[in-house]
Amino acid sequence: MTKKHITDVVIIGSGIAALVAAECLSYHKNVIVITKSKKENSNSSRAQGGVAAAIARNDHWSNHFTDTMVAGNFHNDEDAVETLVQRGPELLRALIDRGMCFDKDEKGRIVLGQEGAHSMRRILHAGGDATGKALVNFMLNRLRTNQKVKIIENTLVVDLLVDENRCFGIKVKTNSRRTETIYSRDTILAAGGSGGLYSFTSNDPTVTGDGISLAYRAGANLVDLEFVQFHPTLLYVSGEVKGLISEAVRGEGAVLITKNGSRLMSGVHPQEDLAPRDIVAREINRAVLNGEQIFLDISMIKDFKKRFPTITGLCEENGIDLTVGKIPVVPGAHFHMGGVEVNQQGQTSVEHLYAIGEVACTGVHGANRLASNSLLEGIVFATELAEHLAFERSEDFEIPMNRSEDKACKELHLPEKEEIKAVMMKYVGIVRDEAGLKIARDWLEQYLSIEDNNFDPETLTHEQIGVYNMLQAAWLITTSALMRDESRGGHYRSDFPAEKIDWTKNKIIRNCHVPAHTA
Ligand code: SIN
Repeated sequence: MTKKHITDVVIIGSGIAALVAAECLSYHKNVIVITKSKKENSNSSRAQGGVAAAIARNDHWSNHFTDTMVAGNFHNDEDAVETLVQRGPELLRALIDRGMCFDKDEKGRIVLGQEGAHSMRRILHAGGDATGKALVNFMLNRLRTNQKVKIIENTLVVDLLVDENRCFGIKVKTNSRRTETIYSRDTILAAGGSGGLYSFTSNDPTVTGDGISLAYRAGANLVDLEFVQFHPTLLYVSGEVKGLISEAVRGEGAVLITKNGSRLMSGVHPQEDLAPRDIVAREINRAVLNGEQIFLDISMIKDFKKRFPTITGLCEENGIDLTVGKIPVVPGAHFHMGGVEVNQQGQTSVEHLYAIGEVACTGVHGANRLASNSLLEGIVFATELAEHLAFERSEDFEIPMNRSEDKACKELHLPEKEEIKAVMMKYVGIVRDEAGLKIARDWLEQYLSIEDNNFDPETLTHEQIGVYNMLQAAWLITTSALMRDESRGGHYRSDFPAEKIDWTKNKIIRNCHVPAHTA
């Protein structure tokens, strides 16, 4: 028998946006947080660099605004960027007042780091290069004794429940394979991004585009899905990616070099090694395709082990001798700028369904996210949403009666996860073209009946649901990439090379995926 629960708000995901929203909402509502693995497993926990905010005396939110717009190729939603950079400092100070510790110098002043495409030092960090982990642990500690927030781990959300364009909860599968229903007045998607769709990624292996797929099946609009950010520097050992080497390393002076020691970024961009990520990633990709091996030269960084303890551990575990001063790197999928279309309060096109964090697209990141703006985005827009929901009337919540949740299901024929990742890396990766994108689309479509609603979670295993979600998310990204016949930020089409375009004069065209079928 299907078990049923009722709550005010259910949040899908356990990254920084989910945890901040849960805490803010708990003053007014009962909240359930659902995560498909352990609550500590998220991209937020893995974030090394830090949180960007204009808190220095000589900085101003308008500088942060400009850097965000330039990195985003002016594809950004200006109002969302303004909210991000204006509310950021205030909300970080509130976290500090509640006990969050960012790294300080010997005089007790917060130390500010430098990262790519920032015009000045404005990155707050914690534990050297363990900022995300410190923030997530800080929030989890605060929630530990909070009676209004229940965190449920190892539970897969298999579908959003939607009736007449109104979301009224979720259907989940527990580790014991039981299907349960959680009815909620409001549902918040905070399920993270999609980096795990690619063979090379910095993301937690659990992050494979589930949120996009859930939203699509629920009938929510999706936008800007073609914009995928590739981080330039992932540790590369024995043909495999082993983890992230933070951009903060280049912020402290490291440079990209070839095997014979030539500087890779000289003459490519005025900001050289600290150029926007899409530019650096493409340059490394070009060199790798030409048979070069690329390294980060860290020899000039004093006290590397002290400043970057996480990266030091990662390198040592993988047999890299840091005294040599060279770390082998390749680019890999890191962040999804596109996602579920939302306004600044996280509202999607489906009533009572909200999205925050990486799965959402407010347009704040444009075509390419500025470094260390993602934890900030999670904190700012989770707070905006929680403030919006806190004062909503809650008496009009009714569970639709006599609604059949069963779907006719055809037998699914599914590929291996690694096959999907390889196709995405090869054809929908750092450099794309029409022919390759069509190969990827056709390959994906042999497994998906996009027009048929043939997905029935009851009969599928966790693994099958995960693969189906990957296929659907991959198809959505691929078809969006086919629609955008220009190169911009994280979406680079070799058949439409970006000449010296003045993006400030370029009209923003947003590719919106309106689902062909709705739940
Ligand atoms: C990094 O530390 O390089 C990643 C931080 C980010 O993606 O903002």
